[in-house]
Formats: sequence, structure tokens, C-alpha cells
Amino acid sequence: MKLYVATHNEHKLREISQILPKFEIVADDPAGVVEDAPDFAGNALIKVRAIASRHRGEWCMADDSGLKVAALGGAPGVRSARYAGEPTNTPANNALLLKNLEGVADRRANFTCAVALVGPDGREHVVFGRVFGRIALAPSGAEGFGYDPLFVPDGFEKSFAELSAAEKNAISHRGRALAEARRILAGEGADGFSSMRKEASR
Ligand code: IMP
Repeated sequence: MKLYVATHNEHKLREISQILPKFEIVADDPAGVVEDAPDFAGNALIKVRAIASRHRGEWCMADDSGLKVAALGGAPGVRSARYAGEPTNTPANNALLLKNLEGVADRRANFTCAVALVGPDGREHVVFGRVFGRIALAPSGAEGFGYDPLFVPDGFEKSFAELSAAEKNAISHRGRALAEARRILAGEGADGFSSMRKEASR
């Protein structure tokens, strides 16, 4: 089954293809949309709506995700991609994060992913995934993307960038959100409202 995905991020696309191998993933860049919602779900909806109008009668999906650091009041949050400014600069983002956590003992953080879907019937669904962990004192590993070299998931002594793709996908925010999305795509999932309520009650 075809699944249109609103992104130009090749790392996200690769992970989505790995996690949903049975789908024919077709990237459609929602170029020009302004992601100005206050939360991940809102931005995922902005992106998926931008492409859904081009693919009526088909499944469309968008992922909006980011890193929340407890000691920084949830930053970088929805600004994760642009933490050190525009355009996105991953080494600068990671360096700024380490600088802002200099001398900070509480390194707790989580990655959150909201996945928005628009079905062939035009109905919208939003599901979430989250993984808890901590920010390392220094980067390590060469896999993955973004903040992966700095994020050590709970229960591990390695960063996301030191895990294989399969290991990361099994526990990651994106892996968890897409497991929920897979149920909706298979016709087994909750409707969008009950998924939204689940998040709101956390
Ligand atoms: P988005 O494309 O607006 O959703 O921005 C997501 C940003 O959050 C990325 O540019 C990364 O900085 C960060 N991010 C999201 N998911 C991951 C991940 O799995 N690993 C590392 N960084 C991530």
C-alpha cells in the first residue's frame, strides 16, 4: 500500500521505511509550510494537511518530533531542528545543547514523536511515541542523525548513535508512534480523538 510522507528529511524517511517495510513510502516535501504550532501534534497536522490535498483518496502521513530536556524547561522541544538558528545545523544544535547543560547534573530528557495521518476518507488521526533517557556529557557514535550522539536511552549505556538502526527503531519515539500508526493503517486503530485524549491526559 502506498503511503505519502510529508518530509524531505532523508533520515526520517529511512527510519519510516525500516519500521513500515510493507508500505511503499513516497516522499512529498511540504515545502513552504510554516510549522508554527505550539506542539508536535499541531505541526504534524500542518505538514500532513499540506500534502493530503494533493493525494485525495490515499493515506498520507507526517512526523513531527523533537527533544525535550527537563533542566531546560522542555527545550529545545518544537524548536529542535532550529535550536541554534536557521537553517538547521546539527553540529551547532548539539554544541549549544551541551553548552546549555554545562555543570547541570540533571540530564533527563525525552524524545517525542507525533505522527499525523489523513486517511482515504479524509479523517485525521494523531498518535504519539516517546522514549526517555539522558543527555551524555559528550557525543558518541556515528549512526542515526540529529541529537542521536548525545541521547542515551534509559536501560542503555550507549547513545542512539551507537545503536544499530534495528535497536534504535525498537525503542525510539518514532518506532513507538509508527507502531500505533501501523494499527490505524491496518484498520485496527483508535480514531484521532481518542489518540489525542491519551496524549492530553499524560
Ligand atoms: P522536525 O523535522 O520539525 O520534526 O524536526 C525534528 C528535529 O528533532 C530534527 O531535526 C532533530 O534535531 C530532532 N530529532 C527528531 N527525531 C530525532 C531522532 O530520532 N534522533 C535525533 N534527533 C531527532
